[in-house]
Amino acid sequence: MQQIASLIQQYTPDAVALRRNLHRHPELSMKEVNTTRLIQETLQSYGIPLIQDVTLPSGTAALLQGGQPGKTLMLRADIDALPVQEKSGLPFASECPGVCHSCGHDIHTSALLLCARVLSQMREQLKGQVLFLFQPAEETGSGAAAVLESGLLERYKPDLAIGAHCWPDLPGGTVGLRKGGFMASSDTFLIRVTGRGGHGAHPHKSIDPIVTACYLVGQLQSVVSRSVAPLDSAVVTIGKFTAGTAANVIPDEAVLEGTVRTVDPAVQALVEQRIRDVSTYCAAAMGAQCEVEYHRGMPPLVCDPQVVDLLDAAASQQLGKEQVRYLEPPSMGSEDFARYLQQIPGAMFRIGTATDAPASHLPLHNAGILFDEQGIPTGASVMCQLAVNYLR
Ligand code: NI
Repeated sequence: MQQIASLIQQYTPDAVALRRNLHRHPELSMKEVNTTRLIQETLQSYGIPLIQDVTLPSGTAALLQGGQPGKTLMLRADIDALPVQEKSGLPFASECPGVCHSCGHDIHTSALLLCARVLSQMREQLKGQVLFLFQPAEETGSGAAAVLESGLLERYKPDLAIGAHCWPDLPGGTVGLRKGGFMASSDTFLIRVTGRGGHGAHPHKSIDPIVTACYLVGQLQSVVSRSVAPLDSAVVTIGKFTAGTAANVIPDEAVLEGTVRTVDPAVQALVEQRIRDVSTYCAAAMGAQCEVEYHRGMPPLVCDPQVVDLLDAAASQQLGKEQVRYLEPPSMGSEDFARYLQQIPGAMFRIGTATDAPASHLPLHNAGILFDEQGIPTGASVMCQLAVNYLR
């Protein structure tokens, strides 16, 4: 739609200036005080009312009412920075020692503010409302949970949720989509194997938890290789093994700790169950006892295929079909936007930020990474078009 494109073009210089301001003054998770104030002042200057009846621990939300009643679309940006000393050499590099926006959340924030500004000019055309969520603390994995706890979703009941993230594997001006599993879950587990301690010279009078736990480490490799279907993705890693105090003492217990990554909730449930069963029965076979604590951390991020079609249509309208890329395979990283998608249909998309500069191809979180600021109008125009299409 022409109107979106021309408004985006008109306001992009302001959005880039705002991004550089954010980039200069990054703040860590749950400490986004000045960032939040800047976002709130900017939204108010666009005439978009802040949500006052729900209190977020940090970050902010605002609601743009369309000309007619209708559905509610939630657009989310994360706003926090990382404990990394910036080495980008940019003239607007972080002025805060040891903290920088090396995950591009300053790009997400300014893209969503640009989108909000454009949609505020088109509000009469919208049938429904847009909930702009500037979420704190994505990097620590606690922000989305805090937003859910605030009751924001219960109060405003969004029908659809859209998020975006920079992606250095795609060129600036493009976006990346994927139907289904987009990013991985991140769970942790602890297995406590209890035997019966004794003298290392008389193993037959003990139940050795170290030997049991060693078998268990081996047996757990069968979860991915034998229980998960070959074309599904899963990782089971034991990263910590604690046992024993002396060379000639069989201890009472051994403790294993590990992490599990999956991209499909059904595979996640399967892996958890197999870890529990294998641990319990392997220990029993050795005469030991076993306790499994499985902690579900971040859920897998699963993009609703129909919502991805909406994103594809919006991006194709604004950027051209050739700028829309489909990503294979999913990322085994995790992202707390997944928590919203457990409750609301939605999807995330990638905003390409690579240029000819080698530093723009560095991985996210790298101290020297550069982001193509073209990502700001690109991300904003896709969200604007999606909003107009969805709230028609
Ligand atoms: Ni990030």
